[in-house]
Amino acid sequence: MGRIRKSLGRRIDYLAKWLLRFRLVSIPARAVANSSYAWSFISRTDRIRANRLRDRLKEGELPQHISIIMDGNRRFAWNSNIERDLGHRRGKEKLKEVMDWILDLEIPYLTVYALSTENINERSPGELDSLYDLYVAGLNEIADDPQIHERGVRVQAMGRLEMLPERVREAISNAQSRTESYTDFLFTVCLAYGGREEIVDAVREVAADHAKGDLPLESIDTMQISSRMYTSDLPDPDLVIRTSGEERISNFLLWQIAYSELHFTDVFWPSFSKVDLYEAIESYQSRRRRYGG
Ligand code: FPP
Repeated sequence: MGRIRKSLGRRIDYLAKWLLRFRLVSIPARAVANSSYAWSFISRTDRIRANRLRDRLKEGELPQHISIIMDGNRRFAWNSNIERDLGHRRGKEKLKEVMDWILDLEIPYLTVYALSTENINERSPGELDSLYDLYVAGLNEIADDPQIHERGVRVQAMGRLEMLPERVREAISNAQSRTESYTDFLFTVCLAYGGREEIVDAVREVAADHAKGDLPLESIDTMQISSRMYTSDLPDPDLVIRTSGEERISNFLLWQIAYSELHFTDVFWPSFSKVDLYEAIESYQSRRRRYGG
């Protein structure tokens, strides 16, 4: 029985590979989407497609720093007829998956936008409270994850962290202190973050140094500003991905994305797949090839 299944599996793989040459596979497969055979066919073909894409990507130059605006948790919940908070929870699970994919590609920097300063002012206290619980759970899970320690991932949070409740700040300092000696990968979570606020904070420091007489006017340049940003230990992002179809930057890393490639995809964050990530990187690589960047 096992041998028959295996040989059937090989035949399906072969057929899927053949169909993929014409990029036709998703159309007939999705048309019969109610059958479990069709779903196993789709997941098999998705896996083959993902592996093929990954091999192709690895032949080119990979981005070293990917930043993600994780958007669309609530719309995902609404579309799937589930509670809003469950949509956010799926978003948290997705983040852990995406971290794994990025680690597998050996991309050393990942930065995600998890909460903006605007979110804090606009969302209801109930929603914020469940988001805060989610950050605590997510950060603790990350700090406990053996992979994080085996792969040497340093975790840090940035933003106006003083705006966050005590329990979130504790989870941040736990994750930070347990990973502070690692140097292979850097995972940055932006919380209570705003790009304009970050620039304001840097400018305040520049002004204070100037007032003290430590920084002459003619020495103030882009380097001086960059070195006072929260991200001074990070290279600028090569690629920024935003999910859920919105084509805006929404106050994310405004200073740092001056030369970044931007990739917008329609999928809601909890539905973001490995193929979506690979396609974003593929589009980054093809734009770099085209413009010789
Ligand atoms: C945006 O979707 C998403 C958020 C404001 C929260 C994102 C948080 C997570 C994915 C969990 C992160 C966990 C850790 C550990 C950092 P939205 O609510 O704006 O959805 P909408 O665009 O459909 O309204």
